[in-house]
Amino acid sequence: MLSIALPTGRMCEQACRRLSAAGYDCRGITGPNRKLIFEDRERRLRYLLVKPRDVAMYVAHGAADIGVAGRDVILESEPDILELLDLGFGRCRLAVAAKKGWHDHTDRLLRVATAFPHVAEEYFLRQGRQIELIRLHGSVELAPLINLSDVIVDVVETGATLQQNNMEIIAEIAVSSARLIANKSSYHFNLAQINQICKELEAAL
Ligand code: PRP
Repeated sequence: MLSIALPTGRMCEQACRRLSAAGYDCRGITGPNRKLIFEDRERRLRYLLVKPRDVAMYVAHGAADIGVAGRDVILESEPDILELLDLGFGRCRLAVAAKKGWHDHTDRLLRVATAFPHVAEEYFLRQGRQIELIRLHGSVELAPLINLSDVIVDVVETGATLQQNNMEIIAEIAVSSARLIANKSSYHFNLAQINQICKELEAAL
């Protein structure tokens, strides 16, 4: 059986919708339960439900053969995986944002709050800007509002969170969407089955 790691949360429903459109049985996965493993015996597929940020790790370590992961988290963890297909959903941007009207003092160390420390470090290194990283796990937009940081590096999807907190994008770092990824050796051992899934998902796009 091939294992596929699916992200829980807001991407789960879209991933299941895409898989169902491609003819895969995802019944029960998005329902109100705490089950973490589902099987589609007919298709020889086992679904593992994991945190979005962990999908690439499961795949990189071979605990899952394939998975659905956002490009944002792939950029952050740079896992040793193959990216097979852009699934087109979960579109968002990784961006630098600040309070509206904020002015940068380029002679000072920039305090950056983020749950994407690697992406932030790489970005500001390319800009030649020295930063102080403030690593957070969520609600990052709060940091500049209470002067914990000058700016944030975070995911922007609809822009509602920034807008409702009187913030704005000041630079765009990367665009992101959900990707079908594969473990490198699993891909070679299960070439036919993985390519078939890829083809069917692509046809359902
Ligand atoms: C993410 C992200 C932003 C928000 C952006 O947070 O960290 O806060 O979504 O989406 P928007 O542009 O559509 O408003 P999430 O909902 O995952 O929760 P978190 O703040 O706990 O990370």
